[in-house]
Amino acid sequence: MTATAAASQEELQEHFDATIAHDRRIEPRDWMPEAYRKTLVRQIAQHAHSEIIGMQPEGNWLTRAPSLRRKAILLAKVQDEAGHGMYLYSAAETLGADRADLTQMLIDGRQKYSSIFNYPTLTFADVGVIGWLVDGAAIANQVPLCRSSFGPYARAMVRICKEESFHQRQGFELLMHLMAGTPAQREMVQDATNRWWWPSLMMFGPPDADSPNTQQSMAWRIKRHTNDELRQRYVDMSVPQAAALGVTLPDPELRWNTDREHYDFGEIDWADFKRVVSGQGPCNAERIAHRKAAHDEGEWVREAAVAYAAKQAS
Ligand SMILES: [Fe+2]
Ligand SMILES: [Fe+2]
Repeated sequence: MTATAAASQEELQEHFDATIAHDRRIEPRDWMPEAYRKTLVRQIAQHAHSEIIGMQPEGNWLTRAPSLRRKAILLAKVQDEAGHGMYLYSAAETLGADRADLTQMLIDGRQKYSSIFNYPTLTFADVGVIGWLVDGAAIANQVPLCRSSFGPYARAMVRICKEESFHQRQGFELLMHLMAGTPAQREMVQDATNRWWWPSLMMFGPPDADSPNTQQSMAWRIKRHTNDELRQRYVDMSVPQAAALGVTLPDPELRWNTDREHYDFGEIDWADFKRVVSGQGPCNAERIAHRKAAHDEGEWVREAAVAYAAKQAS
């Protein structure tokens, strides 16, 4: 690098740092450090993959929804998740990533998605509990991302968060309905809560002490709170919701701590988390196989779309 090139590089870095320090947005046309770009592509791609794979657990109940009304609600919700994936892939493309490459990396297991979607949905109560707990955790994670330093990501998150909030309410409404039903229906809700509570706490990622990238992401203002801060906020929010529903959260250590003014909760099984993240969860293979089959079956659609676009352009 020549002296002039080095000096202008330094100027660009200073401008970037000042933009971040003033809480202004970085836009795709702006210069950015390569590590910032890479971190964002990885995070946004992982987020997009999670939205797309996240359609599967609930999609499993579309053909077996107990009423036309529940089917219509669930269809709308699953379709929203596809839309979230699309906004996010588009945001990643503004950073120079290619959507086809990202999809390939998901299918090959080179990029991850949220480990929560590797658990099965055993009853229709799971649809309600996913809306309540999983979409609830997604909201806790994603609302601060509306202020993320990268413009296209932050703007995508505004709309996504509005839709997630609808998802959470439909889940809660479904559960209230079941809880007002028969003992068997209430038992279904409790059973689903028992199965989803701990995995939903894992959605916030490893404990801060074990999360090496958190500090850099916070310095870049991609992330605004640590994993443990968000997890605590989520626990504090969920306890009164569980009480309103009349279900018990499966954690005997859960109690209000008057000194901390937060709920204390039990130890998370991080060994289980690592096992599921590394591909050994109950549904990992099935989720990827399903995604691959959908991708293969959609090949003719992509070909036709490209041919149509070429014809329009000529
Ligand atoms: Fe979503
Ligand atoms: Fe959602």
